[in-house]
Amino acid sequence: MIKLSDRLKAIEELIYQGETVADIGTDHGFLPMSLWEAGKSPNVILSDVKVGPLKKAEANIAKYFPDQRFDLRIGNGLQTLEYGEVDAVVIAGMGGIVISDILAEDINRTNSFKRYILQPRNAQKSLRAWLLDNGFVITDEKLVREGKYICEIISAVSENRSEEAESYNAFVSKVNYHMNKEYYDMDLEISPILFVKKEPLLVEFIENKIKIELNILNSLKTGAKTDKSKKVKLSEDRVKSLRKYLKRSMTNEYEYE
Ligand SMILES: C[S@@+](CC[C@H](N)C(=O)[O-])C[C@H]1O[C@@H](n2cnc3c(N)ncnc32)[C@H](O)[C@@H]1O
Repeated sequence: MIKLSDRLKAIEELIYQGETVADIGTDHGFLPMSLWEAGKSPNVILSDVKVGPLKKAEANIAKYFPDQRFDLRIGNGLQTLEYGEVDAVVIAGMGGIVISDILAEDINRTNSFKRYILQPRNAQKSLRAWLLDNGFVITDEKLVREGKYICEIISAVSENRSEEAESYNAFVSKVNYHMNKEYYDMDLEISPILFVKKEPLLVEFIENKIKIELNILNSLKTGAKTDKSKKVKLSEDRVKSLRKYLKRSMTNEYEYE
């Protein structure tokens, strides 16, 4: 039986029973294999841009399911899929910019799938900005621990897929991205959905960001550079904003002041 990491398990839980799934950038192939083994997905596609990772997936299939044929495909991003071929597309464990480049490549193909589960390793803010600027609704967010990191999982549907987008409206309409620039930037970094859901790792997630920023601030203040006052001010402002968000996460208040 395939044993998934907590990160991949969290992604698996977001797939609905009976959904067909393409795992783009599958590498080891554990997620689609597990989805198939659990009887959750009747049809899974394992896709990767490189031969090496697909060979890894092949070796894992030979080890765990020697008698089962899986659908392995090689190619860039969503190019390996026919329009609308699967219900859900998973793109996990890559940078946020790589993910948005994959989504941007052929927007008609991208819009042909019902929904996306995305797990960017970095540039999460850029990916959210891309989604919101390109007609996607962010329908869910989840934080999951992986070693010393807290990973972010983003579910999104294209607004063109009105059936899927509307079914989320009751939840999503509670979530507003703030119009004020300071808050909007922070909302792109720390999704308002996490506050509405009272996500268990949210406090720690924000505390980690504050720690990192305080270290930056400290090295800016003690460093030798002379033209640092602008950077110090930006860093201090960021700490201030993060502390507001931390307070909000602890008091469970979602409203902006
Ligand atoms: C770090 S692995 C992530 C594996 C798995 N998805 C996970 O989350 O554990 C990233 C994989 O994405 C693949 N990849 C990177 N860019 C890609 C692209 N444009 N299209 C398809 N696969 C890509 C890499 O070859 C690599 O196998």
